[in-house]
Parts: sequence; C-alpha cells; structure tokens
Amino acid sequence: MAAVRPLFLLLFLFPLRSLSVDSDKQPLLALKQSFTHADALTSWLPNSSPCSAKWFGVICLDGSITGLHLTGLALSGNIDVNALAQLPGLRTISFVNNSFTGPIPQFHTLGALKSLLLTGNQFSGQIPADYFSNLTSLKKLWLSHNQFTGTIPESVTHLSHLIELHFEHNKLTGRIPPMKQTSLKQLDLSHNMLEGEIPQSLSIFDENTFKGNEGLCGKPLLKLCTVQDNETLTPMSSATDEDNNKNDHKNDTALVLLFFAIVAFLFMFFACGTCSKRRDDEFSVLGREKMADDPVVQVHVPSSNRSRATSTDYSSRKGDSKKGSTNNNGKSGISDLVMMNHDRGAFGLPDLMKAAAEVLGNGGLGSAYRATMANGLSVVVKRMREMNRLQKDGFDEQMMWFGRLRHRNILTPLAYHFRREEKLLVSEYIPKGSLLYLLHGDRGISHAELNWPTRLKIIKGIARGMGFLHAEFACYDVPHGNLKSSNVLLSEDYEPLLCDYAFNPLINTTQAMQALFAYKSPEYTQYQQLSPKSDVYCLGIIILEILSGKFPSQYHNNGKGGIDVVQWVLTAMSENREEEVIDPEMASSTNSLKQMLQLLQIGAACIHSNPEQRLDMREAIRRIEGAQV
Ligand SMILES: *[C@@H]1O[C@H](CO)[C@@H](O)[C@H](O)[C@H]1NC(C)=O
Ligand SMILES: *[C@@H]1O[C@H](CO)[C@@H](O)[C@H](O)[C@H]1NC(C)=O
Ligand SMILES: *[C@@H]1O[C@H](CO)[C@@H](O)[C@H](O)[C@H]1NC(C)=O
Repeated sequence: MAAVRPLFLLLFLFPLRSLSVDSDKQPLLALKQSFTHADALTSWLPNSSPCSAKWFGVICLDGSITGLHLTGLALSGNIDVNALAQLPGLRTISFVNNSFTGPIPQFHTLGALKSLLLTGNQFSGQIPADYFSNLTSLKKLWLSHNQFTGTIPESVTHLSHLIELHFEHNKLTGRIPPMKQTSLKQLDLSHNMLEGEIPQSLSIFDENTFKGNEGLCGKPLLKLCTVQDNETLTPMSSATDEDNNKNDHKNDTALVLLFFAIVAFLFMFFACGTCSKRRDDEFSVLGREKMADDPVVQVHVPSSNRSRATSTDYSSRKGDSKKGSTNNNGKSGISDLVMMNHDRGAFGLPDLMKAAAEVLGNGGLGSAYRATMANGLSVVVKRMREMNRLQKDGFDEQMMWFGRLRHRNILTPLAYHFRREEKLLVSEYIPKGSLLYLLHGDRGISHAELNWPTRLKIIKGIARGMGFLHAEFACYDVPHGNLKSSNVLLSEDYEPLLCDYAFNPLINTTQAMQALFAYKSPEYTQYQQLSPKSDVYCLGIIILEILSGKFPSQYHNNGKGGIDVVQWVLTAMSENREEEVIDPEMASSTNSLKQMLQLLQIGAACIHSNPEQRLDMREAIRRIEGAQV
C-alpha cells in the first residue's frame, strides 16, 4: 500500500514543524467574538499568532496551545466551546473571577481536559448528572462561588484522577454522592444546602470541607446522623423545584419523624449503651482502615509539586535552546551517520538516503520509516523530534552505550544521526513486526500462531529483557520507561525483542509525559512519581494484554477505546471469574489453564496502584520464570 520513495524525499519533503499555529488562531478569535465584554484581550489580534506573539492568557508549549488562563478580566457573554474543541492540545481552562452567567457551558465535550476552573462567576442551574462522564482526565475541578443548584453530579464520582474538587458557595442540594477516589487531596463542599449523611469515604476531610450545610451529619461533623437523616431526606433531595409545595408537607412530616427519631435515639443511647459503643467501634475500625491506606494517601505530592515540575521543565527547555543555538553556530553542513553497532555491517547517510523507503507510522516520539538499502539490508529509521534534552556529547555517549548492549531480548540500534532539531535512530527491520500488531492487527491470519506456549515464551522473553535493562540502567529513574506491546518486536521464532527503551533521560519531560507509557502509571498520574516500579506496572499491563488478547485502554492517552484491563481483571478476580479474562482463542489449550491463571495472578500483582504493594522487577521475573504447569 504505502508508496516506496527514496528516504531523503520522505525526510525532507515535509517540514518538521506542522503549520498548526495559524489553525490555532481562528478558534481563539472565535472565542473572543463570543464574549460580549472582552476589553482585556487587546493582544488577541488577527494579524499575529497566539504563541509567538504571546497573546494574553494563552499558554503554549512547543508552539501548540495547552492552556487558557483568563482570570479576573471581567469577561462575560458566551463561551464558544466548539471553537475550543478545535485546539487539540488544550488541557487547562481557567475563567476564574469573571462575570459569566447562565448554565454551565458545554465543556464536557473537551475530553482531554485536565483542569477546569470556573470559580467566581455567576453560572447557575443544574449540572447534568452525566456531565463529567467523558472528562476522564480531569484532575482539578473548581466550580465554587457560583449559583449552581441541584445535586452534585453523579459523574464526579467516576473521575479517577481527580485531585482538587471545589463546590463551595453554591446552592447545591441533596446528598453527597459516594466519592471513593484515593487521588482526592482537596475537597470543599462548604456553604451549600447539602443534606444527609457524609459518605464514610469522605470523613477523612476536616469539618471545614462540609461547614455551612445545615442538613449534613456524620463524621467529621460533630452532628450524629439519625435514621431519619438517611430515610426521609432522600426523597426530598430528589424532588425538583416544582415540587416545592409538596416539600413543605414533607418538611412537616419530616419534623414529626425527626422528633420521634430523637426520642428513639435518646432511648437507645441510654438504654443500650453498647449500641453507641458499637457505633464508635465501627468508626475506629474505619479509622484503622484509613491508616492501612496511608502509604497511598500520605505521599504528599500535591499540585505545588506539579507546578514545580513544569517550571523546571520550562527552564531546562530554555537552557536547551540556548545551548542548542551555540551548537548551531558551530555546525557546518550535515554530519554523517554514526555507526554504534557493526553487527549488520557499516553504512553511511548517503546509502540510507538513496534507499527505497516507506512510511511505517507516526508515534508519540516522531515518525518511522522502513528503508531498504542497495545491499539488501532493511532498516527502520526513526525520526525523533523531541530528543533534545541532552547536548551532543551526552547524546553521543548515550548512543554508544546503547550500541554496546547485547541480549537475546534486546534490539540494539545500529546507527544514529544527530542534528540539533532532530535525531535519526536506525535499527534493523524486524519483518514479523510488533506484538501489538500480532495481537490486535490482523487477527485472522496471525492469531492462530499465538497459542499458549508461544505467548508464555513471549512473556518470559519480555521479562528477561526487562531484567537485563534493569541491571544495565539501574541508575535510571525508570530503566525502560516505555514498555508496551508496540515496542516489543518478534523474531521469526517469536523471541521478543524490546526496543525504544531507556529514552527517559533523552526526552524533554513534557514530551516524555505524553509519549512514554511509564508516565501513565498510577503513581505518576496521581503523584508525579516515577520509579523502576513504574516499569513493573507496564509489565503487568502487557501480561494482561497477552493473556486476554484485548487492547488495553491504558495505552490510549485519553483512556478511550480498548478495554480497561486493570479494572476488568481485578473485578474478575474478586468475583472468582478469572477464567473469563483468558483469550478465548487459547481455549484449545485448556490443559494449561492452571498456568495461565498463575500468570494472571502475577500480572495482577504487577499492576497494584500502590507501588509499595506492587511486585518489584526481580520478584516479578522470578515468579514468571517459575510458572509451573
Ligand atoms: C478571585 O477573587 C477573590 C475575591 O476577590 C480572591 O480572593 C481570589 O484570590 C481571586 N482568585 C484568583 C485566582 O484570582
Ligand atoms: C460522551 O461521549 C459519548 C460518545 O462520544 C457521547 O455519546 C455522550 O453524549 C457523551 N456524554 C457527555 C456527557 O458528553
Ligand atoms: C441509608 O440508606 C441506604 C439505602 O436506603 C442504606 O444502604 C444505608 O445502609 C443507610 N445508612 C444508614 C447509616 O442507615
């Protein structure tokens, strides 16, 4: 299918930077149009470009718009969310302290948002219960100091990355839905009209979180709940505004019931002291459970750390470009390829440029081409755009290190080419392709070959390769950093070959966050921490992928598509339905079921969301090697 052309055409025909800057301008101008009062946005001019001309409040990274921070500008009118939807890089939106009114705008269509700050406006009305169901990446949600009514939307309970949630100073009614996210570090529901018992999962927050809500009871408030708090208030909370009259009657009934309840409660309290004791015991049991969770809860790396990470990022970025430009002064013409590994003979840039080439694809790190040289050697050329973290000396050293690696399950690159703005990395072309392709690509053809012994061989090979990398790059935060099925190639006899490893120190952090799978581990998404255990998480995902034959949704940046293998496997295991997870295409090898389930257990022990409770690499390998029939 793909056209075969000389590689140099493919490499130099297309400019490196996409010309997206202009396409970013129109949506912002449309947004400005939708405001009725936008005096503060005088720098947003049609004849300039948002990032290079530094439009007020527009946050850019690498020429693409990532944030819109329009705080305290007396803006009003509409917010054209359709225009914002045309900014694919947009992750953070702040309209704090402006004068917007009306129902909450359609931000729910911006699925990649990480932070939505609308505090200090006059937004009103109910927020639909499913409003947040597609905003699965949301970490910060500030809706405080508005006029929102109705109940807390149920969909916030499913935001598994949520760190900050602010609803204070609104007119919210009804019960607090059960929020169980362990990621939650800041919660403020104060000064609303919430009622009923505070869910036990939220009793770890202090009472300021809940103050100013007359109808709330239970821990951490000093007000104990009566049975009525549970029963009679539930129907009221689901009543709509039209039901106000009925509510008045219900209020009367509720008062009467409340009176009886208090009498009953006092009776219980005095007559049956053990009951209240038992209740206390329940609380203290809960308290202990909380303590057991503490390793997760107490890794305090809240938002301040995140912003620190970003700012060092910017500074290292600046440093890079400065160093880069001095480098550039010394540069004269195009330097040649540097061979780092002569296992497949030597070749130079001219050989490569003349080679017949085709595009293999575009990934998070750049584009890949296959090039077949005159001598018949077929190679993959990866063109890396964001490998700018090291200067030339450091980069050369790193490449030479890669070139010396020899392991049966490691693909050692052959050559590289350094230019300030991009790097080429050349490796042997492996005809069978990646595990990703074999598992999910052309199912009809290849799947029959993937029987259990083959899959077990692949898992063992991956584990051995990881063991080697963890010894070799033991000093790295995360030795592989990007283990996933697209980075596992397969030799003719299904021996896995790991590639694209140990890139973390080479890539700018912001890019690494997007492109390297280790950054999708729970400890990074929640606490911005990476460790060798992050590789173990990736190993766990790939084991579950191989066992189930399903594409893990974890590989997608937005978590959409594929199957959340972590949730699926944990649920199946808790309900003793492990066998349902196993790929039905392996059903013929039912006599190996025991072994498959053993591997499933190992996979599950690798994906524990708390790295402390996750296996370490050595133990994971030991168990994989020891899997018995
Ligand atoms: C918004 O306004 C309030 C009240 O004037 C102020 O306390 C708060 O700091 C402002 N928030 C931001 C982010 O500017
Ligand atoms: C979420 O996305 C699905 C599929 O794109 C869509 O049908 C649904 O309406 C969306 N829900 C919300 C609340 O945006
Ligand atoms: C409150 O009611 C719900 C559902 O009716 C029930 O599951 C829950 O156990 C009750 N809680 C208390 C504290 O009685």
